[in-house]
Amino acid sequence: MTLPVPDISKNLFDLNGFCSIVTGAGKGIGLTLSQALAYNGSDLVLVGRSAGGLEAAADSIRAIGHKVRTVVTDVTAEDAPEMIVNAAMDLSRRIDVLINNAGFMTFADMLEVDDKTWDDIYSVNVRAPMRIMKAVLKEMVKAGRGSVINIGSSWSSRASVFNLDGGGVDYCSSKAALQALTRAAAQDVAPKGVRVNNIAPGAVDTPMHADHRDLLYQFVKYIPLGRMGMAEDLAGTAVFLASDASTFITGQTIHVNGGMLMVD
Ligand SMILES: NC(=O)c1ccc[n+]([C@@H]2O[C@H](COP(=O)([O-])OP(=O)(O)OC[C@H]3O[C@@H](n4cnc5c(N)ncnc54)[C@H](O)[C@@H]3O)[C@@H](O)[C@H]2O)c1
Repeated sequence: MTLPVPDISKNLFDLNGFCSIVTGAGKGIGLTLSQALAYNGSDLVLVGRSAGGLEAAADSIRAIGHKVRTVVTDVTAEDAPEMIVNAAMDLSRRIDVLINNAGFMTFADMLEVDDKTWDDIYSVNVRAPMRIMKAVLKEMVKAGRGSVINIGSSWSSRASVFNLDGGGVDYCSSKAALQALTRAAAQDVAPKGVRVNNIAPGAVDTPMHADHRDLLYQFVKYIPLGRMGMAEDLAGTAVFLASDASTFITGQTIHVNGGMLMVD
């Protein structure tokens, strides 16, 4: 099954009629990307752990004028994939987009990293996106279309988080695993007309950095475009990858980081 060549006389970024799922949607990058998809026409399934945070996020989607469902769950829960797919099918009977965004960061040093820290970060940053992606891809394959966007990190291509004093064997390698998973999954579903890509943000000022904001801002001098990244900086790439504007792109990682890492 091949995807049609885009009709350039239409708005290629139009998401009207789409149903999109975003994990970790209560705050930070996930909240902003959910709103960006809604502004471009999509209904939303918002996934997160905090009922209060998700309800506020859902209100903001309704205010934009779109339908929304919330799924309150830890993404690592065994039944999370099933709950998420059911919510989307109940809302719209289709799934066009999945943004696997929920994740967290730790700064473990190679000589000190312990098994629990390692297992926890791989459980949230790699295993959960894989399981949710698998459940969603089954629906997308049936439909013969769909776009999965994993949220990786530019730190996956660096030796340590912030490259200051080292630290980050757990986080950097988990995001590199997600990037490799993106490529491998993309290959498996491409013949079915379904796409899987990875957005790799650089340093982005979100609640994730609340307890080390000074450290975060020390990094600005390494960002060629000269300022800290904001969640809004990722919105254009997410809408692009979600939409029919990117129907010939799959298995790719797009770095959105103000130029802090210039790779091919
Ligand atoms: N902020 C950055 O500088 C940056 C850079 C590169 C990549 N990223 C990635 O972007 C994504 C979003 O990060 P952010 O900066 O918005 O973080 P954040 O901490 O501000 O928000 C993360 C959201 O994910 C949710 N979440 C985390 N673990 C979860 C779980 N187990 N189950 C359900 N929900 C969970 C949190 O509750 C929160 O709502 C993460 O995957 C992160 O690794 C962030």
